[in-house]
Amino acid sequence: MDHPKDPNLNEIHDFLVSLAFKAGDIINNALPETNDTGSKKNSADLVTEYDRAVEDMISTSLKEKYPNYDFHGEETYDQNRPLTDAPTFVVDPIDGTVNFVHGFPFACVSLGFAIGKIPTVGVVYNPSTKTLYSAIKGQGAYLNRETRLPLKGSNMEPLAGLTNALIAIEWGSDRSGINWETKVRTFEKLGQSKENGGAMVRSFRSLGSAALNLCAVADGTLDLYWEGGCWAWDVCAGWVILAEAGGIMVDGSPAGWEPRLDGRKYLAVRGSPNRVGQKELVEEFWSYIQGPLEY
Ligand code: IPD
Ligand code: CA
Repeated sequence: MDHPKDPNLNEIHDFLVSLAFKAGDIINNALPETNDTGSKKNSADLVTEYDRAVEDMISTSLKEKYPNYDFHGEETYDQNRPLTDAPTFVVDPIDGTVNFVHGFPFACVSLGFAIGKIPTVGVVYNPSTKTLYSAIKGQGAYLNRETRLPLKGSNMEPLAGLTNALIAIEWGSDRSGINWETKVRTFEKLGQSKENGGAMVRSFRSLGSAALNLCAVADGTLDLYWEGGCWAWDVCAGWVILAEAGGIMVDGSPAGWEPRLDGRKYLAVRGSPNRVGQKELVEEFWSYIQGPLEY
């Protein structure tokens, strides 16, 4: 059995990959309904019987194989038991539940392992496209276990400011209040022409899954991802993959160079040769944020 103080990260990675494939089978064989799907706080915040079934399978398997490690999963989250420094599996059984329900092929299982709240192993699997992203801290990030990320490798172009950036954003499920105001006004400012005071970014994308947005920044097909409102289970696995692909994660609000795993607001930036332009892009992005994000 794994010793609690000395986790075998490669074994954990391989076990998480096997669970991701099992979860993928459940997801691919599911028949979710678009209407009358169970909601949490509103009609944009969904949960289905499959989210619960996948989490149940994963937590049961992990507790059996790794009884010494904690488990922190979306569907069994208890606000009285926040994430701790103990070695913990941080799991979203289906990230992108809205996509899953609609059959839009960007839902995934997101399996992270954190030690001291530092994301250490990450496995993200999209069963619709059979795409697996995975990483172990210090050992690089991979697509389908064989292609090293970022995809362009040493031919990746240096970052060159917001005007050249393709950015992931998400609308989230909170549609009123200060966070909504800040997001929408920031989207407007980022997209607006330079003559009107905007950043004139190249464009926006919303994959509908925080984990898959992070993986797209990790593989270099997106330049940034800005998020407010998601949770540790949405980002833990993708964070390791991003960092191991040379990307950086900072806080979604200005000046937060050391973001917390459970901080609920994040800005991810892709890798760049010799890290050229990475910090500058973070500061440029922060300068366009139009208000506070309060979580
Ligand atoms: C959601 C997705 C979405 C993000 C939301 C998350 P869920 O996760 O990751 O991209 O913007 O904040 O809640 O509900 O599909 O697991
Ligand atoms: Ca989920």
